[in-house]
Amino acid sequence: KGRIFSGVQPTHTLHLGNYLGAVRNWVRMQKEFECIFCVVDMHAITLFQEPQALRQNTREVTAAFMASGIDVSHSIIFAQSQNRVHAQLAWILNCVARVGWLNRMTQFKEKAGKDRENASVGLYTYPVLMAADILGYRATHVPVGEDQKQHLELARDIAQKFNNDYGVDCLVPPAPVIGGPAARVMSLRDGTKKMSKSDPSDYSRINMTDDADTIALKLRKAKTDPAPLPGAEVLDAKGAVTAEAEAARPEAYNLLAIYAALSDREIGDVINQFAGREFSAFKRELTDLAVAVLGPIGAEMKRLLAHPGEIDAVLSQGAARARALSEPVLKEIEEVVGFLSA
Ligand code: TYM
Repeated sequence: KGRIFSGVQPTHTLHLGNYLGAVRNWVRMQKEFECIFCVVDMHAITLFQEPQALRQNTREVTAAFMASGIDVSHSIIFAQSQNRVHAQLAWILNCVARVGWLNRMTQFKEKAGKDRENASVGLYTYPVLMAADILGYRATHVPVGEDQKQHLELARDIAQKFNNDYGVDCLVPPAPVIGGPAARVMSLRDGTKKMSKSDPSDYSRINMTDDADTIALKLRKAKTDPAPLPGAEVLDAKGAVTAEAEAARPEAYNLLAIYAALSDREIGDVINQFAGREFSAFKRELTDLAVAVLGPIGAEMKRLLAHPGEIDAVLSQGAARARALSEPVLKEIEEVVGFLSA
C-alpha cells in the first residue's frame, strides 16, 4: 500500500481550486492509500499572518478537510508546527538543495514580486520545507494541483542528491499525482491567472464557505465573452479541447472545466451538452451544480467550527500519529549524516 502526503496553507478559506485540484482527490484516494494530510502553518508564515487569523484558518482548513470527507479514523490530519520533525529535516535538506535550484522556482518569483531583497528567507527556502514534509514520511504519492509540480520535482531532486551524496537508499523520491479537468482552476475574472487565495478580488474565486447567493452572484459576474458556448468543433480526436480553442476563450473553457469536474464528467461531454447555448443559461446550471456540491460541505464546516475544541483534539491526535511515523525516519537520516544520537 502506498503512502500519500499532501498539504494546504492556512492563509485563507479554501476555494474551489483547492477543493477540485486537491482535497476532493484526497478523499477518493483514502481507501487505496495510507494518508497524511497537513495544515502547513509553517509555510503560511513565510508571508506575515496575524496570529489570531492563523489559528482560525488552521481550524478552518481542518474543518474543510473533514467536511469534504477525510475520515480521521483512518487518515491523519495535523498541523505542521505540531511535529518538530518537519523543521529539523528541513535544515538538513537545506544543506542538500542548491541555491541554483531554488533560484529557478517560479512561485518564489511570483510571491516575492519586485521587491525581492525584502522577501523573507523562509519564502525562498519554502520548497525545501515542502520536501521535508514529504520525505520525512517516505510518502510515495503526492496529489496536488498543477501549480505544485515544480516543487515536487525539486523534492525528487533533493531525495536523489541526498541518496547520492551519502551513498544510501534512504529517501524515497515521491511521485506527483496531478490531473483531471480541475488540475488548474482559473480565476473567474481572468482566465489566464489561476484561482488563488491571494487574489485581492473575492469575485475571482468561489470559496468553500460561500452561500448559494454568493456563488450565484460570483458566477453571474464571472468574465465570459458574448459568443454562445462552443460545440464539438473545438474537440480533438481524444475529446479534449484543442490548444488553439482554449487560448482564444480561456474564461469559457475554465467554466466548462469546472462544470465537468463538479459533475465528474469529461469536458467533451459537457461541451456536447451545452453546444450553442447562451452563457447566461449555462451559468445558471453551473450555479445549481456548485451549490449542490459545496452547500453541504460548507454547512458541515460550520457545524464543526462551532466546536473548536474538537477540531483541536483531532489535530493533536493526528500530530501524535504523524510524529510516530516520521521520528524514526528522521533518526535514520541523522545517522546517515553523521549526527550522534542524543
Ligand atoms: P496551497 O495551499 O497553495 O494549495 C493547496 C492545494 O490546492 C491546489 N490548488 C489548485 N488546484 C487547482 N487549481 C487551482 N487554482 C489551485 N490553487 C491551489 C494546490 O496545487 C495544492 O495541491 N506548497 C503547497 C502546500 C504544501 C504541500 C506540501 C503540498 C506544503 N507542503 C507537501 C503537498 C505536499 C501550497 O502552497 O498549496
